[in-house]
Amino acid sequence: MLKILAPLLISVSLLAWGATWALGRTAQTWFERDVGLRARLAVAGARGSLAEQLARRDRRRLAALLEEITRDDRITAMAACGPDGKTVARTSALPDGLACRDLTGVVPADPAARLAWGGIDFERTVPSGNVRVSLLPVIDDDAFAGSVVVVHDMSWVARREAAMRRLTLGVFAVVGILAYLLTVLLRRLNWRDWSRELRDLVLHPRFRRGGRATRGAAFQPIASELRQLLAELSREQSGPTAGHWSPERLQDVLERALGGDGVVVLANREPYLHSRTESGEVKVLHPASGLVTALEPVMRACSGTWVAHGSGNADREHVDGHDRVKVPPGEEAYTLRRVWLSPEEERGYYYGFANEGLWPLSHIAHARPLFRTEDWRQYQLVNERFAEAACREAKGPDPVILVQDYHFALVPRMIRHRLPRATIISFWHIPWPNAEHFGICPWAREILTGLLGSSVVGFHTQLHCNNFLESVDRFLEARIDRESQAVVLGGHESLVRSYPISIEWPNHWARAAPPPLECRRTVFDELGLAPDALLGVGVDRIDYTKGIEERLLAVERMLERSPHLQGRFTFAQLGAPSRTLIDRYRALNESVEALANRINERFATGTYRPIVLLRASHEPPTVYRYLRAADVCYVSSLHDGMNLVAKEFVSARDDERGVLVLSRFTGAARELTQALIVNPYDLDEASAALAAAVEMSPEEQADRMRAMRAFVSEFNVYRWAGRMLVDAARVRQHGRLSDRLTPVLRAVVPRR
Ligand code: G6P
Repeated sequence: MLKILAPLLISVSLLAWGATWALGRTAQTWFERDVGLRARLAVAGARGSLAEQLARRDRRRLAALLEEITRDDRITAMAACGPDGKTVARTSALPDGLACRDLTGVVPADPAARLAWGGIDFERTVPSGNVRVSLLPVIDDDAFAGSVVVVHDMSWVARREAAMRRLTLGVFAVVGILAYLLTVLLRRLNWRDWSRELRDLVLHPRFRRGGRATRGAAFQPIASELRQLLAELSREQSGPTAGHWSPERLQDVLERALGGDGVVVLANREPYLHSRTESGEVKVLHPASGLVTALEPVMRACSGTWVAHGSGNADREHVDGHDRVKVPPGEEAYTLRRVWLSPEEERGYYYGFANEGLWPLSHIAHARPLFRTEDWRQYQLVNERFAEAACREAKGPDPVILVQDYHFALVPRMIRHRLPRATIISFWHIPWPNAEHFGICPWAREILTGLLGSSVVGFHTQLHCNNFLESVDRFLEARIDRESQAVVLGGHESLVRSYPISIEWPNHWARAAPPPLECRRTVFDELGLAPDALLGVGVDRIDYTKGIEERLLAVERMLERSPHLQGRFTFAQLGAPSRTLIDRYRALNESVEALANRINERFATGTYRPIVLLRASHEPPTVYRYLRAADVCYVSSLHDGMNLVAKEFVSARDDERGVLVLSRFTGAARELTQALIVNPYDLDEASAALAAAVEMSPEEQADRMRAMRAFVSEFNVYRWAGRMLVDAARVRQHGRLSDRLTPVLRAVVPRR
């Protein structure tokens, strides 16, 4: 309410002030003209007598005549001057300084000019203040008989002006109140309309264009998710993190709120890896990782050090004596500190505990988690090594350290032991399972205790926060403050919050890419597609959580159900090999290939193959070229914390074309509600969505894409990082206050 009322009050008051001022000025001019006119009328009425008495210089009669005229209550005094400019008669109330001699020189001296002279109105300062005066000629029978001084009573003008101001203010007050009531009413109606539209969106077939339903309505998010999104958005709109976020604003928050000169980021995957190709040439590669996509622009904005596993086969050749290298190459905005792992450590910590244990534990993707004691041992040791490295990279006793993901669950507490005053923000990039499921992990307590060394623990969604709090409740003796969403363990408080991750906006890869039509031409050439072909694209690491098999099966079902698309629709799957030392991933590679072959054989005609598997670690320029060339992008994750490919597709489409088909089991589906939202397990639904996508009108594509682009541009990765930093700054402030207060309290409150 106050948000509407305050600006309304200010603008109405300013308007009212302006209007009264303008009206006052105009009214004053009118009144002045009015009194001049009245004086002329009065003198004209008595012109004959005035001229006669002036000619006779009969002071007594003249004085009586003047007294008679001043009975008009707007004239206070008069004087009659002879043609020589001397006072012949005056009324008793004539103020000093207004006798005829005081006005010498005002009446023209030249006889001809006198006859043409119409008199003058002016203001004069006399001992009693400012007065308005008219000096008028008395002309009779074409002869100049003299002049009269008329002094006006202007107090009525002031009274009228005050009355007019009161009236104007009153009118504006009434208008202001009416405008306020109207605004509130319209907002209510608007809100109702919007919620009705959302309800319709969920429940009824909509998005009709040219009289034909696109079937899009079947692929909308469910109402409860929309409700939650709306609630979160309205909270966001009014908080300290509202407004546009840019790298500069992020930097500013870091400097002002946390006094930070750079941050330390701890993430297993490095943003740039040096790789020697078979020909012996060294290339700098960008690993396929949502975490890297999101965090790299943040580091470029904040500067500092990224501590990561040096996994490139030429990484060691490109570091200094402290295992550091400046990145991005050529730009050198921050430092990459590489940590080396032995094959044994990598096997136990990365492949074993992190990716065979915690990864399947956190995703509902029907892969059984494997927990081995040896892997756990390596996980603990490697976590120690990274905690040590992070503390070494920190400048001073209270650095800002961002600990990323499930590879480092134990690190926050380890850092806290070494640097008790550090601000530690942990972010868990994957889902957090429910407490029941989390209990499968034999080291559930240790994982939770480790994470609770953080100042802030972040997840993509509120559901994951709730699951985490539920797990703390189940496995630890900790105090949970559900109101403020905080956990206190051993006297240390950690905030638990949702921070949906995003991408940089504007996106530098999208900006650097060729225009969409050119991308389409080159991609179609590469794939040998006819100009009127339709192209679907998928971009993933080859991971069983991504639903790649389900995706290909949905394409197969679509071709079955829409035979006219056979020979015309091609799906290009860009798949980056990932974690290939793990059996489950190797098996997936094989099954995806076998499936693609089977579908291709089924629908092959001439050179046409419906599925193109492009298995390689594609660099961002290639990925963006495909995203810009596609008619549809299908993200079919079976479970995904967020999924940034969906947001990258949106950022790639500045031409507002292309349709996103998105699994409802991704965090992104809660935000990109204009995508066609599907259950990837439901092949009928998914294939219908794909068919609707390729048939969607350009207008509808643009409508949906525009809305999604607006969302991602506002909720970009700088906001994600900024919100965490703002919360961390609050925790830090709170901690400092209690540090200062505790000794004081100890001194005044006697110990028991
Ligand atoms: C997910 C994880 C990241 C990881 C990425 C790639 O997004 O949350 O931490 O970096 O997958 O996986 P990889 O094992 O290659 O780093």
